[in-house]
Amino acid sequence: MIWVRCTLLLAARLAISMAEEPWIIIGNPACWQDGYTYEDCCGKPPKWNCWDLEFTEEKCCKYLEEFSDGPIDTRNEDLDVAHSRIAMFVKQRPLECEDDPPGLWLLLKESVINLNVSRTYGMPGHRPNEVVMQNIAEHVKSWVRDEQAWQKVQKACPVGVLNAIDLVVKKLDKEDSEELAVEAYRLHQQLAPTVLSGKPSKYWPLLLPSQEHVPKLLGLTGDHNCHGMNLKIYVYKIAKYAHMTQPVLTCSQKMGQCTASVHIHRWFESGSCLTADPDQADLFYFPAYEACYNETACGLDNNTERCYPSTFDPYLDLPHFSRRRGADHFFVFGCNLPPFSDSLMIAMRNSIIATVESYQARMRSGPEMFAWMSEWKDVVIPGYIPAWRISAMLAFNRPVLKRAQLVAFHGHYARSRDVGFMYDRSPLADIRTKVINYFWNASGCSAGPPVRDYFRRMGASKFCLIPAGLTAWTIHLYEAFFLGCIPVILSDELTPPFQREIDWPSLSIKVSTNMSMPDLHTMLAKYRVGRMKKMHAALAKARCWLDYSRGWHRNDEDQCSPYKALMSALEIRANRNNALHGLSRFWAPPFEGEVS
Ligand SMILES: *[C@@H]1O[C@H](CO)[C@@H](O)[C@H](O)[C@H]1NC(C)=O
Ligand SMILES: *[C@@H]1O[C@H](CO)[C@@H](O)[C@H](O)[C@H]1NC(C)=O
Ligand SMILES: *[C@@H]1O[C@H](CO)[C@@H](O)[C@H](O)[C@H]1NC(C)=O
Ligand SMILES: *[C@@H]1O[C@H](CO)[C@@H](O)[C@H](O)[C@H]1NC(C)=O
Ligand SMILES: *[C@@H]1O[C@H](CO)[C@@H](O)[C@H](O)[C@H]1NC(C)=O
Repeated sequence: MIWVRCTLLLAARLAISMAEEPWIIIGNPACWQDGYTYEDCCGKPPKWNCWDLEFTEEKCCKYLEEFSDGPIDTRNEDLDVAHSRIAMFVKQRPLECEDDPPGLWLLLKESVINLNVSRTYGMPGHRPNEVVMQNIAEHVKSWVRDEQAWQKVQKACPVGVLNAIDLVVKKLDKEDSEELAVEAYRLHQQLAPTVLSGKPSKYWPLLLPSQEHVPKLLGLTGDHNCHGMNLKIYVYKIAKYAHMTQPVLTCSQKMGQCTASVHIHRWFESGSCLTADPDQADLFYFPAYEACYNETACGLDNNTERCYPSTFDPYLDLPHFSRRRGADHFFVFGCNLPPFSDSLMIAMRNSIIATVESYQARMRSGPEMFAWMSEWKDVVIPGYIPAWRISAMLAFNRPVLKRAQLVAFHGHYARSRDVGFMYDRSPLADIRTKVINYFWNASGCSAGPPVRDYFRRMGASKFCLIPAGLTAWTIHLYEAFFLGCIPVILSDELTPPFQREIDWPSLSIKVSTNMSMPDLHTMLAKYRVGRMKKMHAALAKARCWLDYSRGWHRNDEDQCSPYKALMSALEIRANRNNALHGLSRFWAPPFEGEVS
């Protein structure tokens, strides 16, 4: 509420202070609620009823705050304040572009500021409305088609051109074609070096840093060498199921935490470990953006939450599946596992499942989700977090000594509005209620439903509680690494990923959900600073294994990335498979020479 007032006040003052620098805001923005304004109350005489014990003339009128046009300080400046402040400065400054086509660049600049500021705070932000998006998309398409238009516009506003392409490339991919998105992005790649090597404009933000996934997913970053590993992977391309891997850019960010399947697929597609020869392949991979394709909620009609088409049968649809009954095949599930009772899981029971999920309980009501991964054949992978969200989290990550709070957890639970019923029916989520009931009012702790400044709170807490949610895994676990908050896992059936790469006991704690919360509180309060500093440092060292933006370049061979850990896990399983020469499904002695 308060910040809404503040925004209005800033806007109203714009006209007066155009030429001033730094920006001065007069009157305490916290005072202008319930219809009162600075003009109403601080003029002579003040409007009736302006003042009471809480709101005094002293507090509200004699308040000066300077706004500078300095960079955003996410830790100390509220998101909405930063939005209005930056937007204000940009409006005051020259366009820095030839205003041709008229109005286009200003419109774009304003949209880009919005997104840039939001993403700096780790929020996706809002794209402009459909009419504006369509307008910008038409311009971008004209540059792809018409060399002259392209030459002209590059001169008029290079920074605007880059932003325009970044803004609409996802839309082109979805509504036109991936090929068009690729062509548009090639123009972007032509121009970017010039813009980036020039003097950066303080008032023209770039979308580019938050779009690092775009050239990677569109296959425009060149081939990588699969971290130098020898495994050969055959990736199925089946025309009938092409829609299960489209539209790539939309699917790569939709419900972010669920999209590891998209990034893993495109990473294999641009790697030297890919083979088109089934006889060379160590493993076969059928890609599916199983939480996204066609962008519909999946399986709503049958209440199964399943996204694969009901007609899909690996024995019939995948030509190399039956040879080893699926044992040399892998599938990726970036969000939920389909339940055991699903015909897909029955058919895939010998296959390697790369999954974020280690365990789903039987629900008390609603969809049947009962499923788990098998430790000896399956691979647990971390959930996806976009690189711009990672950067935002790192900005909130404080040194141990500066963490004033002991414990943080904020998330949905059975009493959440709108979604509470889902948590109510999962027995795993009971621990959330237990956590919130105790820690809500515990001193030095911050617990409860989701809050907008969760990053700030996690970044200022020594420990982050990671209770199970609807299922055993939650993205909070991986976020804790980037926020430097020691994870305390309260999810009995959770199997953490990459156990050969990450030394989990050195950087996290996992206790039974049966533990009493006061006991847990006492235990955490006893940790010494030296110990916590070591754990904090270990988190920093391990976080590269959770960052899907790494490992896409040839020289990334020695660096860690989730792909490298996945490859190692697959390698072990492929070697095991090679030793396996099972019988084929049917056999019988030949009939020749039989006496009848
Ligand atoms: C916002 O824009 C600035 C200036 O171009 C850039 O340095 C920064 O990385 C951008 N932030 C995000 C989250 O994209
Ligand atoms: C998904 O897309 C494919 C290919 O365009 C189409 O055949 C199928 O009917 C679509 N499914 C849904 C649920 O929209
Ligand atoms: C889903 O429900 C429809 C009828 O509503 C049924 O025909 C179909 O077989 C069901 N599919 C599965 C996979 O159970
Ligand atoms: C926290 O304390 C307040 C005030 O004592 C009380 O009203 C509230 O119900 C408590 N919350 C919980 C979750 O116990
Ligand atoms: C937790 O307590 C319940 C009930 O006493 C028991 O059945 C369960 O095995 C315990 N779980 C663990 C992980 O200790």
